[in-house]
Amino acid sequence: MKKSRSRAKIRKAVIPAAGLGTRFLPFSKAVPKEMLPIVDKPSIQYIVEEAVASGIEEVILVTSRGKSTVEDHFDISYELEDTLAKRGKTELLKTVQKVSRMIRLISVRQKEPLGLGHAVLCAREALGDEPFAVILPDDLIDSTVPGIKQLIKEYSQSGKAVVALEDVPDSRVHLYGIVKAVEVKKRLYRIKHVVEKPKLKDAPSNLAIIGRYVLPPEILEILARLKPGKGGEIQLTDALQKLADRKILYGYKFRGIRYDSGDKLGFLQANVVYGLKRPDLRERFREILEKELSK
Ligand code: UTP
Repeated sequence: MKKSRSRAKIRKAVIPAAGLGTRFLPFSKAVPKEMLPIVDKPSIQYIVEEAVASGIEEVILVTSRGKSTVEDHFDISYELEDTLAKRGKTELLKTVQKVSRMIRLISVRQKEPLGLGHAVLCAREALGDEPFAVILPDDLIDSTVPGIKQLIKEYSQSGKAVVALEDVPDSRVHLYGIVKAVEVKKRLYRIKHVVEKPKLKDAPSNLAIIGRYVLPPEILEILARLKPGKGGEIQLTDALQKLADRKILYGYKFRGIRYDSGDKLGFLQANVVYGLKRPDLRERFREILEKELSK
């Protein structure tokens, strides 16, 4: 059977990483926050690994001035590989080679931080006319089925745009895009309205959009025509509302736990959780934590 165009395979993922990262100053002044380590890998590597594990074939990284270390991380480092090979460090060599060879990665520049919607629009030429994924590098998802893969599965069934949803506590509603939605089947919602960072009293629910999206190519047309919204930025949320108006926006309550590594506490929590999962570190790390907590 011929596949309809709307169910085209999701081959490309945009990773917008051109923000200023103000929550992580002063660290993020000269080093991109995407390079912050979670145990021994930069947080962005977990994101690219999630894309690979979800069947994505090409990553489009949206960067800005001062972010070249992110590009370098995924590049081949002949000198380093040569030195490791000569020293017989086979395991380390494999680890380093894996990073640079795991996926085709191209980068595009966002010259000014004009908003997340604008960052996605910067990937337009590279995306062409096919549906695509967007993965926000701050949101690390620890799950059995990779986060974006769960959305791709939903998309492949409905052919409709789908975003990841999570219930957030009242105290954090003002930090997210919050939806008004109706549940259409277990975990799946049709989204009617999206409100960007509302005050609690204006929030239509506690269901927040978090950083995973599968979007149709027409969202790029919508973004291109959008006027600046909240904070003077081109907001992805405003474009999502237009999809909701056309009744083609869905939300999926993903299975897994998310850590916001762009926030100080979320970053510390992710390091504790991922550290405790590492077989080579677990026991000693637990002892250290227990000792510190008993002081
Ligand atoms: P945030 O709103 O979290 O902003 O962006 P930020 O700059 O990353 O961090 P804070 O809040 O100042 O600490 C959400 C995502 O959108 C990207 C960011 O890199 C992040 O992945 N983004 C945001 C862009 O790529 N360009 C922009 O103009 C704005």
